[in-house]
Amino acid sequence: PTAARRDRDGALMIGGARLGDLQRGFGSPSYILDRADLRGRARVWASAMAEEFWEGYGMAGGRAYYAAKALACADVVRVVTAEGMGVDAASLGELTIALCAGADPALVGLHGNNKLDGEIDLAIAAGIARVVVDSLPEVARLEAAAARRGVGVPVMVRLKTGIHAGGNEYIATSHEDQKFGVSVNDGGAMEVVRAIAASGHLRLVGLHNHIGSQIEGVGAFVAAARIVLDFRGRIAREHGIWVPEVDLGGGLGIAYSGADPVPTSPATLARALAEVVRERCVEQGSPIPRVSVEPGRSVIGPACVTVYEVGTLKDVSLEGGAVRRYVSVDGGMSDNIRPALYGAVCTATLANRASAGPWARCRVVGRHCESGDIVVRDVDLPADLRPGDLLAVPATGAYGWSMASNYNYLTKPGVLAVEDGAARWAVRPQTLEDLMDLDPGLAGRPLP
Ligand code: LLP
Repeated sequence: PTAARRDRDGALMIGGARLGDLQRGFGSPSYILDRADLRGRARVWASAMAEEFWEGYGMAGGRAYYAAKALACADVVRVVTAEGMGVDAASLGELTIALCAGADPALVGLHGNNKLDGEIDLAIAAGIARVVVDSLPEVARLEAAAARRGVGVPVMVRLKTGIHAGGNEYIATSHEDQKFGVSVNDGGAMEVVRAIAASGHLRLVGLHNHIGSQIEGVGAFVAAARIVLDFRGRIAREHGIWVPEVDLGGGLGIAYSGADPVPTSPATLARALAEVVRERCVEQGSPIPRVSVEPGRSVIGPACVTVYEVGTLKDVSLEGGAVRRYVSVDGGMSDNIRPALYGAVCTATLANRASAGPWARCRVVGRHCESGDIVVRDVDLPADLRPGDLLAVPATGAYGWSMASNYNYLTKPGVLAVEDGAARWAVRPQTLEDLMDLDPGLAGRPLP
């Protein structure tokens, strides 16, 4: 599940550097980003959506937009865009970062179920590739903003297809009873299409459906694509136009531990989408749309590990005489909320040295004042694990740093980019002074 390898002595390496050396030099917890691995994943996505791939199916190439919500910083945006990905933003911050990092506005999209005026204004002023409309009231707001500037705005419509997919309830996003998109089943989506058609400044360039996240296999994507294409046919019958692009969103799952299934590859998804889109368009006698996607997790997730230092060890007696060793590390739910929030399952491995066992049944926990502050619920770690050892938790690149908090006034760890053995901060860690500066009662005070 991770880009890390071990050297001859059994110490974990990432990006050509020993994790132990990185931790000594830069501290922990840190998100360690293997830049070459990220570049490779971005390249795989970009080429799965590129012209050459789709030509084989008699289709035009689409594009893969990197979902910045997974982890947005200048270095990551630059690496993925250099490989040919666009960027999908879902807030003013993500949009600003994408543009400031140098992403071509013509390859940037904007999402949001409650877009702020400032987001709409920036999207229009920058001339981004597409604004993904999420509701009927948004059409009027976009039209007014576009009219004020006297420019046309390319829009997609985010559809609710009724497909229920995703690793858990919080990240399934296309069943009816949730907040995103407009339904193809209750007339809502067609109403939005009509409003766009009647507007003076909005141009319908695509139909969008993000079904959810951490999805296994291609079945749900294919089912969603069929529904989107059927809706495209209904638009053609009513308005006489074939919408030129469909975007199937992000959502491809990754492996967080060896227990997870081998993830579906971008090429496998692209092939499945090419086949279903072609087949449906032949049945419909329609021109074939371009197909795009918006992966986040599968681009950045496996490219990072989190490194922690082991602190307190505590053996807890369980019913039946068994013992569970609680291994406290120097981070926790503030740098990885996924286990506590979604019941997500991660694993951990000893990073600074080799071990051949024997093993002890461990629970890796953080430093926060909640018993739910669990990083890894169940993992076998060396029985001789001691304070000062390092643990690596793989595949934390997506929704780790981006969902990190300052709970218990912990500072947010940095993202350390490593390549060819050399490391530098892609995002530096927060300091206590950074946090205190936000508080007028504390700003500028010397530390005690
Ligand atoms: N496009 C849209 C409209 C999205 O809402 C998302 C993710 C993506 C693309 C990217 O999906 P991905 O390829 O990363 O699955 N915090 C959760 C995941 C939330 C996903 C939100 N939307 C987690 O840690 O599992």
